[in-house]
Amino acid sequence: MIGARMAKSLTLKITTALAALCAAGALGACGSQEIEVAADEPPAVKQGAQLFYERCSGCHTLAAAASEGSAESVHNVEHTDGPNLDQRKVEVDQVLYAIRNGGFSGAIMPQNIVTGEEADAVAEFVAKYSGSKAASEQQEQQNTGD
Ligand code: HEC
Repeated sequence: MIGARMAKSLTLKITTALAALCAAGALGACGSQEIEVAADEPPAVKQGAQLFYERCSGCHTLAAAASEGSAESVHNVEHTDGPNLDQRKVEVDQVLYAIRNGGFSGAIMPQNIVTGEEADAVAEFVAKYSGSKAASEQQEQQNTGD
């Protein structure tokens, strides 16, 4: 994906941006209690969690980002509900694909909600934290493409 050197400068830039935001009080919750990522995660992953919470939580469930946008039962399904990412493990490439193309169908999820470094940060976060409640059988089915 991205080379080590790029990744490093990316991390530095994000740190700077985050620090600026925190200083400006723009992120009401720097070190938010709702978003649950490990304290020693790289800044990109933390920023990814924050971005996910801000931009993706309306349609997706992902506990680590305090997001509950997916439908919980057939009774509260909304047209725009996306997959529950606690139950579905996705990799960086899948997240970037979904971001660029608007999900896998392009029908509901808007394209390019985040771009560039922000997209990379979100993808890194989602790849790391998705699938925490995935049943291993489901995952195998998904991996074999059934
Ligand atoms: C308006 C609702 C909506 C928003 C906002 C939204 N999504 Fe989605 N997303 C969906 C829907 C619906 C699907 C599945 C159906 C489809 O692809 O058309 C989907 C699919 C996905 C998939 C594919 C899952 C898989 O199994 O491959 C990923 C990953 C994903 N979204 C991540 C994100 C991320 C990251 C964001 C924020 C940057 C986001 N979504 C914002 C509705 C949304």
